[in-house]
Amino acid sequence: MARILCLDDDDAVRAMLVRLVEREGHDAVGACHAPAAFQILEGGDIDLVLADYQLPGMSGLEFLETLARQRACPPVIMVTAHGTIDHAIAAVRAGAADYLLKPFDTVELLHRIAACLENARVRRELDALRQEVAEQRAERGAEHRMLGKSAVLARVRDIIAAAAASRSTVLIDGESGTGKELVARAVHAQSDRCDKPFIRLNCAALPEGLVESALFGHEKGAFTGAIRRVEGAFERADGGTLLLDEISEMRVDLQAKLLRILQEREFERVGGTSSIKVDVRIIATTNRSLTEEIERNAFRRDLYYRLNVVPVTVPPLRDRVEDIPVLAYHFASRVAAECGKRIEAISADAFELLQRHPWPGNVRELQHVIERAVVLAEGPVLHAGAFDTLRDDRVESIAGWIGARPAARAAANSPTVLSAAIMVPSLNLADAEKALIERALRDAANNRTQAAALLGIAVRTLRKKLNASTEGLESLPASAPVRGPARLSRA
Ligand SMILES: Nc1ncnc2c1ncn2[C@@H]1O[C@H](COP(=O)(O)OP(=O)(O)OP(=O)(O)O)[C@@H](O)[C@H]1O
Ligand SMILES: [Mg+2]
Repeated sequence: MARILCLDDDDAVRAMLVRLVEREGHDAVGACHAPAAFQILEGGDIDLVLADYQLPGMSGLEFLETLARQRACPPVIMVTAHGTIDHAIAAVRAGAADYLLKPFDTVELLHRIAACLENARVRRELDALRQEVAEQRAERGAEHRMLGKSAVLARVRDIIAAAAASRSTVLIDGESGTGKELVARAVHAQSDRCDKPFIRLNCAALPEGLVESALFGHEKGAFTGAIRRVEGAFERADGGTLLLDEISEMRVDLQAKLLRILQEREFERVGGTSSIKVDVRIIATTNRSLTEEIERNAFRRDLYYRLNVVPVTVPPLRDRVEDIPVLAYHFASRVAAECGKRIEAISADAFELLQRHPWPGNVRELQHVIERAVVLAEGPVLHAGAFDTLRDDRVESIAGWIGARPAARAAANSPTVLSAAIMVPSLNLADAEKALIERALRDAANNRTQAAALLGIAVRTLRKKLNASTEGLESLPASAPVRGPARLSRA
């Protein structure tokens, strides 16, 4: 049952249309000129308009054009005189759902009306579904919302939205803990691939010897231990998004293979012969400057160009201190809820402290600092005392020392460096070196190569330092040469 507006200046024709429509069980309302029709349409419950092309004053075409500019307009069937097919064409161009040439057959008219109403119903359903999907997407996107009030972060959010609407490759760079993975997840969540997989591949931790299999999968029997066919990251991400996390850590020989897939979107499983085609959006992250890596021949220039389609730089937290309050509250309320505590406020002196800290570990470091403060809090307010570790003179002096030197400041991206700084027992530089080495070895699970990389020295140098004494670290000579802060950066 629909409500149909019959617009015709000819009383007899209008009455006939009303009668016909009513006989079909619809509700009909007549109008003899365009202004009267607009008045009725303002009521908002008209499902279809039957309009005559020849009208006094405003023509049927002008009526249609005006109506089409309105937000919600019902479908219009334009009735034109015999021999005026160009009028009919003009009407359809102006947005008419259909047209009918006079004299028309009543069966034909009723058939057109039924078809138009059905089309409108399908369109309404489609719009409702679209709306629902958009709402669901926004909800899912909210899970990965980049919180913060700074203008620089607002710009990052804009790029996320624009990138989500495309299928372009996104290259995210930023210091450690700035939120690169969050950006990648937000792009996926806001895209039309959000129902498909999001696969994260940590390029820094690909198992040696199994790297190709991790990327491309392998066939049963491809190598010893390949007891069944396994899909690689590219295949698992088909239809969705593949995050190549820490791409700068990928071996150069693999970079060539990766480049080939990115170009051809086609590959073979290890031990396989047939090529597999995939539809994958690539997002890559790096916390090193890829252009610098290119300079030292550690990264392929052609791969860089292939990845750097939509670049996103997530700024360090110290360059957007306006974001600290909202982030601090967000983390505090989350942790408080998790541990059943009530945190009502963070005091002004606490914020002062938080906003002065250089945050080498960025948002992740802030998250941990807040978590610790909430867990240890005894009342509902977090005062500056809860962040005493940030106040520590030694930390400040080291942070200042790092902050003063751009190269070292970049090297301080890793929270490890700050943690190590916290562990420094005194201002004696030899003690500091010893503490840094101990910390690096602990973080690298005693793997000397990794520890040396963390320290920014050659593994040979580390070995020498460790061997300098029969008692190892315990007796590093007090006069051991002290490295300048710039040497903290990775080799
Ligand atoms: N703007 C933000 N709003 C809310 N949470 C954030 C924001 N930025 C980062 N985070 C949170 O901080 C943590 C670190 O973020 P993420 O893992 O995305 O950083 P990253 O740059 O990938 O770090 P890394 O280089 O160490 O891998 C995550 O728990 C993330 O959810
Ligand atoms: Mg990350």
